[in-house]
Amino acid sequence: MLAIGLTGGIGCGKSTVAGLFAEQGVPIVDTDQIAHQLTASGAPALEAICDAFGRECLLPDGALDRIRLRHLIFSSPEAKARLEAILHPLIRGEVRRRIKLAQSPYVMVAVPLLFETGAYREIVQRVLVVDCSEAQQVERVVSRSGLTEKEVKTIMAHQISRQERLRQADDIIDNHGELSALKRQAEQLHQHYLALASVQG
Ligand SMILES: Nc1ncnc2c1ncn2[C@@H]1O[C@H](COP(=O)(O)OP(=O)(O)O)[C@@H](O)[C@H]1O
Ligand SMILES: [Mg+2]
Repeated sequence: MLAIGLTGGIGCGKSTVAGLFAEQGVPIVDTDQIAHQLTASGAPALEAICDAFGRECLLPDGALDRIRLRHLIFSSPEAKARLEAILHPLIRGEVRRRIKLAQSPYVMVAVPLLFETGAYREIVQRVLVVDCSEAQQVERVVSRSGLTEKEVKTIMAHQISRQERLRQADDIIDNHGELSALKRQAEQLHQHYLALASVQG
């Protein structure tokens, strides 16, 4: 099964592009969504998280107290590493499972920090990067989320540079312009991936 990794910096347009491929019938395996499902109330990963962080990491209804955990990992790199050691293998296992189950010529795997974590290189055959200028990233995230310009820049500083991301890309979608231009590029790439999938068999 051909699996295409989809990545890009915050606000570059990953979710928008994923939506355009989904419209063409491509299954999207979304690692953020999987992480959310794995830590929903009653989910199996909660047991391991509680073993590591205590019952205090749960809300009264048994769901993960995401805000509390976010504060904890923000202030402690060690706690962050511990949480990731629990979650990341589970997320990757679920990604592999969904790729296997897919009934389509190819699937797209959305991984915001694909290059930063490195762990998806053996799961996907190609990486598609969605790109726009850094000024546009800031502008789009500020208007989407209500984060301040400074907060967005701090997040960007923790991601690999635009230059490095582009260097490692197999395919690039240029999202500096109109949504109509984005759509055209996604449609072209979809044809390209269908052709690749048929060659790969
Ligand atoms: N070409 C574009 N023109 C205008 N707004 C855009 C464009 N592409 C994305 N956006 C908007 O910018 C914000 C960030 O896009 P999104 O797809 O959520 O990025 P990501 O998933 O990479 O963080 C969203 O509010 C989205 O609607
Ligand atoms: Mg997104």
